[in-house]
Order: sequence, then C-alpha cells, then structure tokens
Amino acid sequence: MKWATVVGARPQFIKAASLSRAIARRNERALRNRQRASEKRIEEVLIHTGQHYDYLMDRVFFEELEIPEPDYHLGVGSASHGRQTARMLEGLEEVLEKERPDLVIVYGDTNSTLAGALAAAKLHLPVVHVEAGLRSYNRNMPEEINRVLTDHLSTFLFCPTETSVRNLKKEGIQDGGARVVTKVGDVMYDSILHYSRRADAKATVLRDLGFEPEASGKGSDSTSCDYYLATLHRAENTDDRKRLLSILSALDEMAKRVPVILPLHPRTEKRIEAYGLTFKTRRLTVIQPVSYLNMLKLEKHARAILTDSGGVQKEAFWLGVPCLTLREETEWVETVQRRGNLLVGADKERILEGVQSIEKRRFLKSRTSMEKGNASARIVETLLSARLNKP
Ligand code: UD1
Ligand code: UDP
Repeated sequence: MKWATVVGARPQFIKAASLSRAIARRNERALRNRQRASEKRIEEVLIHTGQHYDYLMDRVFFEELEIPEPDYHLGVGSASHGRQTARMLEGLEEVLEKERPDLVIVYGDTNSTLAGALAAAKLHLPVVHVEAGLRSYNRNMPEEINRVLTDHLSTFLFCPTETSVRNLKKEGIQDGGARVVTKVGDVMYDSILHYSRRADAKATVLRDLGFEPEASGKGSDSTSCDYYLATLHRAENTDDRKRLLSILSALDEMAKRVPVILPLHPRTEKRIEAYGLTFKTRRLTVIQPVSYLNMLKLEKHARAILTDSGGVQKEAFWLGVPCLTLREETEWVETVQRRGNLLVGADKERILEGVQSIEKRRFLKSRTSMEKGNASARIVETLLSARLNKP
C-alpha cells in the first residue's frame, strides 16, 4: 500500500509529522501481526514542494520533529500564486505518475495543498484532505480559494470540527457514495500532546531571550511570564501598508508597558523593509521564526497571544492562553464562541481595547476543547478500512 503525502509550508510539516508518526506506529503493529495477511505495510512517499525553504521555515521542523526525509523535493520556491502553483503541478504530476500511489494526502489550505489535490485528481488518484471544511467566507484570502477547491476535489475529507462538517454539507459535500466525510479532530492537537513535555524540557527560547518563567510552585507548565507573543503573516495584513503599520503601532504601544515577542515570518520582514517601517520600542523583541518546540514554549508562557495565524489561534485555545486575532473573521469559530479568542482586526484602537479586555479578565482561560488527541490514528484507520479503486 502506497500513500503519497504533499507538504510545502511550515504548518504542513507539523501536521504531516503527526500522521507520519501514526503510520509508523501502525506499521510496527502490522509487523508484529505479520501472520495476518491483511495487515499490509503502508509505504509513505513524502513529496516536498519547496514552498518554504529558509532553514527556520523548513529544515528545523524535519530535524526537531523527526519527520522522514522527503523522497522528492520539487524546489519550487517563492513566486506569484499562479506561477508557484503551476510549477508545483508540473512537478507533482511527474512524481505521482511515476509512483502511482493508492491515495494522495494534502493538508490545510496553502498553494501546496491545492497543487497536490489538483495533480492527484487529474490522475484519478483519491485525494485525502486533512483539515477539510474550514471556511472564512472571505474569497479575498488565497487560502479560502485553496480550501474550497481542495474540498471539492477530495474523496476523503477529514474535518477537525462539527462546524467544518456543516460547512461542507452546505456545499453539497457529505458522507456517502463515493465520499468519506468525517470529523476526526485536529492533528495539530495530537502534535501538542506529543511535544508539550519535550517543549518544557528542551526549548531554550525563553532563557535565550532573558524571559525565564517565574516559579509559581505549580511546575513550569502553569507559570506565566510577563510578555505578549505576536505572529503576523497573512497577505491581507502584510501586503497593505496601512494595516501593517496599524498593527505594528499597536504592538509598539503595548510594548511600552509589557514586552512583546514577535517571531517574524520572512514575508512580513520583507514587507516591513519594503515599506520602510520601523519599530519604536526596544521592548518589542523582534526575532527570527522559531522552531516548533520553542514556539510551544513561547505560547504556553505568554500573557496573551496576538496573531493572524490559523494554527496559532488553535494552539492558544488548547493551551488556555487568551488570543486576539488580527483578522476580521476566523475559520476557527469555536475558539471565539467559547470566549478564548477575540477578533480585533488590524485597527490599532480595537487591538488595544482587546488587550484591555484581556487585562480585565473578561476572557475565559480554560481548556474547553473537545479534542481527544487521536485524530491521526483515526485518519490512518479510516483510510485502511476504505475500499480504494486504483485506476
Ligand atoms: C503560506 C500560505 C499560508 C500559510 C503560510 C504558513 C499560501 C497561499 N499561503 O503563506 O496559507 O498560512 O504559508 O506560514 O500558500 N519567504 C521566504 N522564505 C521562505 C518562505 C517564504 O523568504 O522560506 C518569503 C518570500 O518572499 C515569499 C513570501 O515569504 O514570497 C511568501 O511566501 P509564500 O509561501 O508564498 O506564502 P506565505 O506568506 O508563507
Ligand atoms: N510556528 C512555529 N514557529 C514560528 C511561528 C509558528 O513553529 O515562529 C508554528 C505554530 O506553533 C503552528 C504553526 O507554526 O504550529 C502555524 O503556522 P503558520 O502560522 O505559519 O501558518 P497557519 O497556521 O496560519 O497556516
């Protein structure tokens, strides 16, 4: 049995790591039960499009999360949406034609996701979409186009939430017939569970930055250092000078009272340079992107998180850290409904009001997640039990 996995961007390395681990665990079990002929080994063929390529956006995750080396690296790199997706398609088609896998797994909503789904569907290979059904209902986001198209091309749609199952139903995509649509939970939660302790033990970022957790007597997991954590990379925020300036001014303002740590995505760094923007406050600690373990550590100990990242919103919620989302809408509506996340957009005053509401503790700070931490295992089992019609 051969399963191809397509990855290319930072969050996909983290998501794919969970599933690769579940595949490896299942293969070990199959080896122990090898007298049962039905328990065939799953061969995973990992294809890296090369969408992300800086060491801190790419290799560091393979090393730290022990992700198997990619079998193919397409080296596509950065380009406009059309050009980047087209280059991926060309490379992926060649690899998939050569490998003829039983199915092709794609994650999330990046250009690598869409290219993987389209290349596979055109070759009549079943597409498996992990994180299916998410919608912001904002077609100006490149990610929304990628999600919608990928879902419509997919045979297996693994949804993280009830809302995502409902979103698909509204578009006529539901379980039954040729399709499997099922809520399995979130593979990123599996990842937090797996790496949380390791982050506590190994991540050095707080020490390196001089923000050691204060001892609270309850163990390092429950301490809170005095800083805000921010991440910023959405095109709608970075590619609009006014919005970017407004967000950075808010962070600058906040940093006058409480330090702000900002691990900067290369896209944002380039835009800040191109627009000639500067940071005013020294207490705004702008750093390079960090590894996953360092990021978990930063998230766990933050007073609050400000972000436009999808993954970081969820992680804040699961870790019980209040989150302000620097967007007008979110796909992760449950985090807002359960009062762990507040949408504040890019307006400086609204962001600062949001910070105030955190300080006044109008926020729920509990882990009300319904996650079980077995999403990856459920995906593997569902795929194994499906009847695949190989063309
Ligand atoms: C992409 C995804 C986005 C996801 C994000 C995760 C799309 C359309 N967007 O956004 O959904 O949330 O990844 O981080 O697929 N760059 C570097 N080094 C790198 C990678 C990028 O310098 O290793 C710079 C380049 O100037 C590039 C820009 O960042 O043009 C944007 O990169 P790109 O992969 O196109 O989109 P992201 O903003 O990273
Ligand atoms: N992340 C990381 N280092 C960073 C910023 C983010 O390891 O400097 C992790 C974060 O913990 C989450 C994932 O990357 O697991 C989110 O990716 P990103 O914000 O790039 O993309 P999105 O989730 O918005 O698609």
